[in-house]
Amino acid sequence: HTVGWDPVSAEKGEYRHFMQKEIHEQVRALTDTLAGRVDFEEGKIRIPQLNLTTEKAKQINKIIITACGTAAHAGMVGKTYLERIARVPVEVEIASEFRYRDPIVDENTVVLAISQSGETADTLAAMELGRMRGAILWSIVNAIGSQAMRLADGYISMQTGPEIGVASTKAFTAPLVDLYMLAIVLGDMRGYLSDAERRKLVNDLRLVPSLVGECLNREDAVFEVSKALKDVQNSMYLGRGINMPIAYEGALKLKEISYIHAEGYPAGEMKHGPIALVDKEMLVLAIAPKDPWYDKMISQIEQAKARGGKVAVIATDGDTRAAEIADYVFWVPDAPWYLTPIVTVIPLQIFAYHIATLRGLDVDQPRNLAKSVTVE
Ligand code: G6P
Repeated sequence: HTVGWDPVSAEKGEYRHFMQKEIHEQVRALTDTLAGRVDFEEGKIRIPQLNLTTEKAKQINKIIITACGTAAHAGMVGKTYLERIARVPVEVEIASEFRYRDPIVDENTVVLAISQSGETADTLAAMELGRMRGAILWSIVNAIGSQAMRLADGYISMQTGPEIGVASTKAFTAPLVDLYMLAIVLGDMRGYLSDAERRKLVNDLRLVPSLVGECLNREDAVFEVSKALKDVQNSMYLGRGINMPIAYEGALKLKEISYIHAEGYPAGEMKHGPIALVDKEMLVLAIAPKDPWYDKMISQIEQAKARGGKVAVIATDGDTRAAEIADYVFWVPDAPWYLTPIVTVIPLQIFAYHIATLRGLDVDQPRNLAKSVTVE
């Protein structure tokens, strides 16, 4: 086999698809995300491009995170970070909704857009609305020099390099770390973090690249589960708390590239309708790492199992309780609970990738989808 004839295949290096390459680039992308911003000695985060003063940080009364697709799911995890660490009220608004609302925004409100391309029409329109209402405009954006970067008063630049696969992967985990760092900066400036708390949160960032690397090393195990489940037709992803958005994101990855019906649900909502769908044909994929919502997740998984569902669980190494209930387990390494979303999403990206390729689909160019949606 020779590479080099086709420049596109050469760029993919040893990988079959850009998506697979980009999944594996996450260790490097997250290492670069920390570089230059995290001062491990001092236990401090520095993001000068935010143009933020302590005075302004104290005045912020609300943050509205606005985005589309995968970027919106990152924002939902960010809500937990910003509320818990910086004690700022946060709303997450899908940009296509926010732009046509009459939102309550003033000069102490931050409108924070998250966008890989920085050119998504709805997200830019949401920023324009924020601007018109006098909000402080921030963005977390990958494409350097894009409109979402230029429009903002302050920004965080994702350090992932270009993302080509339509299904976003590294441009999901990078903003998770960016939002975590942003929460530390704000929590510190607003006086909600003790020196010890701040140092602990900063120090835990050291773990991120190796945790993600460890998940990537387990690709073969995920591939085995993918082979067993490649013919499912319906799936329900369940998560709670900080991992609830990972249920949305996991389901989005699967539907985008494999065309399998997948729904993401907050696990506590299952009893209000979705449980009616559970039978032996339904794959129930539960995200249940050791986080503060773990016990609740286990009881939800038991209920799905009792109704005959095929149950796959994302579980922390050594969790025999989850392993006993589940038909399939994706093992993830133990992590501080607030870093678990960065860990649990990795097997779901790999799972979606393998299911789609096993079904013979072009994961880099899924039908009906575009990498960047610059029209309404
Ligand atoms: C498209 C892509 C998604 C992406 C969304 C938002 O739908 O297919 O992967 O999440 O746009 O894109 P953005 O560039 O704003 O992050």
